[in-house]
Amino acid sequence: MWVLLLLVSIAAVSAEPRSFYGEKVFRVLPQNAEHVELIKSMAQTAGLDFWLPDSAELVEAGKRADFHADSDVSYEVQALLQQSGMPYEIMINDLQDALEKQRDSNIRAIHSYEKYNDLDTINAWSANIAAQNPGLLSRSQLGTSYQGRPIYLLKLGKSGVNKKAVFIDCGFHAREWITPAFCQWFVKEAVNSYGVESEFTSMLDSLDFYILPVLNVDGYVYTWTTNRMWRKTRSPNANSSCVGTDPNRNFNAGWCTVGASSRACDETYCGTAPESEPETKALANFIRKNIASIKGYLTIHSYSQMLLFPYSYTYSLAKDHNELNTVAQGAVSRLTSLYNTKYTYGAGGTTIYLAAGGSDDWAYDTGVKYSYTFELRDTGRYGFALPETQIKPTCEETLLAVKYIANHIKNNA
Ligand code: ARG
Ligand code: ZN
Repeated sequence: MWVLLLLVSIAAVSAEPRSFYGEKVFRVLPQNAEHVELIKSMAQTAGLDFWLPDSAELVEAGKRADFHADSDVSYEVQALLQQSGMPYEIMINDLQDALEKQRDSNIRAIHSYEKYNDLDTINAWSANIAAQNPGLLSRSQLGTSYQGRPIYLLKLGKSGVNKKAVFIDCGFHAREWITPAFCQWFVKEAVNSYGVESEFTSMLDSLDFYILPVLNVDGYVYTWTTNRMWRKTRSPNANSSCVGTDPNRNFNAGWCTVGASSRACDETYCGTAPESEPETKALANFIRKNIASIKGYLTIHSYSQMLLFPYSYTYSLAKDHNELNTVAQGAVSRLTSLYNTKYTYGAGGTTIYLAAGGSDDWAYDTGVKYSYTFELRDTGRYGFALPETQIKPTCEETLLAVKYIANHIKNNA
């Protein structure tokens, strides 16, 4: 008996990451209610992993949807799509192959701004760059994850009195690897630009930036070790073998009313209560504590090339809708000017879908006027498997938009 237990536990520790061999990513364009129904029923029976929108419940006629199907169901899914007459495309024919190509080498542990870095490498980097830039950059611990990992926060800016602040977080959803890469890029650009480039210098003189490179640290580690497509946190759920809560459905903003699920196995599971996750609670506590200074909240996600602002839990317009929209328009036009990457922008509910419990809506209702969600590259060619060659251009263009918003905050908040 104990031999068996031993074998099982050895298998558990030395488990290989999940392989995605033969798995496909489909793009569908449902034309009518029957098509939508077919997608939803396939989601159930074939266990589809939705990439866009975040869950099958959010699929609507006339809006495209991307999902990933296991190898054993891929052909059946394709046959059903074919039969239904629904327009579809195979975006990724072999996800394992796409993921292997995403990273251009397997040599890790050396930090690089143009590679995807694992959590240990990011943590070592943040300790280092803070130590190298005293007076401009410091690191503290925001909180601790469910599994006990530290969540680090960087504070960036020249010291001054009564400074306004902009909070930027990355790594909410574990598989959105381009986002921690952006937070690292932003910090690098700031420290390299201070005293060299006038716009960034004056921004750092009058604003502080709080940069959270990875919020969902447990999920991020899990995408490196076990399942590259993981999205949620890694906290267990009572009476369920399914793990994790969607951190971006876990905030107290119309919590779990729409576009979120109360089923623990779903990718948009809202949790047992607002801020049930130690990660979201730590973030919310920090913003509440610093609400007097924090004027901007930027939360970085991927993918779909969008700049969103409140609300997402209702179609009602935010009090500052017009200004938020004008600033978004300016930010997007800066972004597009660099590589002609096209972005859409607008209130979340109308631009993508209603989805309650997001940190952007919560921050806005808590008093952070300039609250935005970025959805970085791409629009689905690679999706979450965005190749490392796109890290640099993605970060460069995003930086322009972030600086545009920060400048507006500096001059107007
Ligand atoms: N893809 C993001 C998500 O579903 C979009 C977030 C937009 N904001 C929101 N409050 N739903 O988490
Ligand atoms: Zn996301």
